[in-house]
This record gives sequence, structure tokens and C-alpha cells, in this order.
Amino acid sequence: MKKSSGQIKIKTAVFISGTGSNLYNLIKFSFTKKSPIKICLVVSNNSKAKGLNFANKFKIKKKIFKFDKNDEKLAIDYLIKNKIEFICLAGFMHILSKNFKNKFNGKIINIHPSLLPKYKGLNTHLRALKNKEKNTGCTIHYVNSKLDSGRIILQKKIKILKNDTPITLKKRVLKQEHIAYPLAITKLFSNL
Ligand code: GRF
Repeated sequence: MKKSSGQIKIKTAVFISGTGSNLYNLIKFSFTKKSPIKICLVVSNNSKAKGLNFANKFKIKKKIFKFDKNDEKLAIDYLIKNKIEFICLAGFMHILSKNFKNKFNGKIINIHPSLLPKYKGLNTHLRALKNKEKNTGCTIHYVNSKLDSGRIILQKKIKILKNDTPITLKKRVLKQEHIAYPLAITKLFSNL
């Protein structure tokens, strides 16, 4: 990976499947001087993902892959051809294959809406509420061979309030995600 200092920024792809609020947030961050990354590509496994509109709005290349076996090979080739050095998963609802992860070993990070290692997988807010947790939050972590289990880069914690529902919690955690993801990326490349 290139140095984050000076003019050269790390060529980054963001993978999404849905709304893309984290994508939007990362795009805004990437435009700042202090950002070590430049978002060169938005990838989705869902051609109807709302977040793809942000790629259009900011004139960033976008590409849809189904991520089945054959298609995944095309995705890998495309990323290599476009000299992508770093991948941020942001609401990407597909589990990447071992082969894919090996190709980009140590270069893929993800954001997850819980304080990992608690509540890996889906429905994190509902499960945290059901278990009467006092706190929840979000985690940015490396992607490794096991789901939501890679080395943790950064976490943000919030208190769960008496009247919280999965919807209110999702909203409040998302706010923290938008603070945490740029911080995690800055932290990762701060000593390059
Ligand atoms: C976020 O809560 C993220 O942590 C999870 O999926 C959600 C994506 O939201 N992995 P958005 O598409 O970025 O708005």
C-alpha cells in the first residue's frame, strides 16, 4: 500500500448492498485532506442498492457483481485491473469466499453494528435488547476467515436507553458508525 502522506492516496473500493449511509460518509471523508484513502470504486452485489446513487452523484465508478463462483473471479480481476489496494465493506450482505479473502489478505475491513465479539451476524440490536445489555455500539475490524471475527481496529460504545427499540438503537448506532469508520481508517494508516 502507498503512503498516506503527500499526494498519493490509497486506492479504495467500498462494497455495499443497501442504503449506503456509510458509503456516503466515507466518500465525504475521502474528500478531506487528512483522508489516507481515495474511493475509486463502489461495488455491489445488489443492482437495486440505494447506495449506488452516491456513486452516480460523486462520479465514482460503480460495478455490480453477483459474487457467485464464476462472477467472483471476474470481480477479483476487475479489482486488480483497477489497482484497488484496500476494500471497505459497508453493509455488504454477502460472505466473501476464502479465495477472495486470500487474494486481498489483510486489505479488507468491515463495519459491524455491535460491540464484537458480541452479536456477530444479523439482528444485532434486537439481540442486544433481548439480552438486556447496558451498552452496545459498533466495531470496525479486519475481515478474516471467520464471520465478524477479524482483529478489531476500533469500537464506539453507546448506552442502551430504557425505551430503546431496534429502530431507535439502529439510528443511534449508525450515528456512531459514521464517526467511527473514518477514525478507524485514519488510525490504520497513521504510521505509514
Ligand atoms: C450498518 O449498520 C453496518 O454496520 C452494517 O450494515 C449497515 C449498513 O448501513 N454492516 P448503510 O447501508 O451504510 O446505511
